[in-house]
Parts: sequence; structure tokens; C-alpha cells
Amino acid sequence: MKNLSISFMRSGMRIGFVPTMGALHEGHLSLLKKAREMSDVLVMSIFLNPTQFTANEDLSKYPKPFDIDSEKARREGCDVLFAPQADEIYPPGFRTSVQVEGLGSELCGISRPSHFQGVTTVVLKLFNIVMPQCAVFGGKDAQQAIILKRMVRDLNMSIQLVVAPTVRETDGLAMSSRNTYLTPEERIQAPKIYCGLLNAGKLYEKGERAACVLKKTILECLEKAPLISPEYIEIVDTVNLKAVEILADVTLVAVAGRTSQSKTRLIDNVVLGGNI
Ligand code: PAF
Repeated sequence: MKNLSISFMRSGMRIGFVPTMGALHEGHLSLLKKAREMSDVLVMSIFLNPTQFTANEDLSKYPKPFDIDSEKARREGCDVLFAPQADEIYPPGFRTSVQVEGLGSELCGISRPSHFQGVTTVVLKLFNIVMPQCAVFGGKDAQQAIILKRMVRDLNMSIQLVVAPTVRETDGLAMSSRNTYLTPEERIQAPKIYCGLLNAGKLYEKGERAACVLKKTILECLEKAPLISPEYIEIVDTVNLKAVEILADVTLVAVAGRTSQSKTRLIDNVVLGGNI
């Protein structure tokens, strides 16, 4: 892959990159569309990164429809599909990792302590192999996007990192490869997460700035979804991911919940007062 990227760069081509773990849905396709617009060559990776799964998460049950994924990517104008094996990314003796201090232990990092270190390490490695000028990530994983932006800034990397809007099902549920795990009853209740976020956004638009009021409205919506136990409802700044009491700047309103039947972890967010 690296030699191919060098030859693209020597020909003056701008490489756009979308890293994925496969199981592509419309959300991924929107990232490919965005990256396609911004580049001469579009590279997508499929790598089910073991280091971002914590011990209790079942890496083996993650869907792996490789042929369907590659066809979808091709239809979106993907020029190169990079699908390395685990030992290509983590050869024997591998012992280096990248950590954006502090940010990875907030929000999702509380229940998934090593997750973001796994993400930053693999994304940095993929960046070094693919050598893109721009890379596109989904806004649903807002904490991931904020951490990766910080890594790019802190390590003086010359990559434009773009965050694309979350793509939703018609009932508002944020698209995710994990939605396929939901039972029919859980699937009916899952849009309540976005319903809560929307209500928080409406209150914000009307001038409400107290985080506790926005949290309360989200909780009220989630109470109508008894199959989803909230893991957190957090209202944080988009730089340090620290809780705010009064919304004054760009603010991330983030929710994570776990369903009781299939034990699926769902996350969603809205950003108020600007973008990440
Ligand atoms: O968002 C994802 O799918 C993954 O975290 C990523 C960025 C491909 C790294 O494995």
C-alpha cells in the first residue's frame, strides 16, 4: 500500500482516506462520498482493529461481509481498498502506542478504558501507510473525532481531518454496524436516544443554557425506552471533554446506553453552538 501511495503522491494526486472496520452502512458511504469530493484518489481501509475492543467485547461476533463491503466501496468510487491482516499492522514484537492523554478516559473511555488508545494507535499507523492528505470520520463517534483531531494537531501531522454528519435511519436512530445486534423490541425503543437529543437541541434553540435542564429532558425520553439503560448522559466542552454546567461555547451533548436483551452498546450525540 505504501509504495502505491508514494506513486500517487509523486504524480501530484491528493489522497483521500476513509478508515473503517467494515460492515459498511449508509453512514460509511457518506464518508466515502465526502472523501471522494475532496481527493483525486480515494482509499478505504477495512481493518477490524483488535486493540480497540475491550476484554468483555466480542470481537469475533462483529459482522465481516467483506465481498459486500468491497462492492459498496467500489460503487462509491473507492479506488483502493486496503485490508491488511492483523500481523501486518501488529507484527510480532509490536509494543508502541499513541495516547492522547486525558481525553480517552472521559465519556466512553470510562467503560472502555483502552479503547481510544487502540483507535489512535491504529489510525496513526494507517495514516503512515496510506499517507492521505485528507481523512473523513463520522460525527456519531464524536469523542473519537475530537481525540483524533487533537492527535493530528499535537503531532504536527499534515492531514486535513473532516468530520461528516451522522447518518440516521428514518426514525432517527444513528446508523451503526452494531444496530444489527438489536432485538426487534430494542430496535423500536432505540430512537428514543435521538429523541432526547433532539429535545435538548430544541430547548437550546429556545435559549436554555443550563446543562441540568438539557440532561433532564434526555433522561425523560430514555425513561420511555426501558430496554435501554443509560451509561452516561454528558454535556461537555469539545476541547477537553469536561462537563459544563452552563453552555457558553461549542458543546457536545453525548449519550451512551446499553440494551438489556442483546447487550448492545448504543451511542449518539448532538453538537450545540457550532461544530467539532
Ligand atoms: O470508527 C471506526 O470505525 C474505527 O474506530 C476506526 C477509525 C476505523 C479505527 O479502527
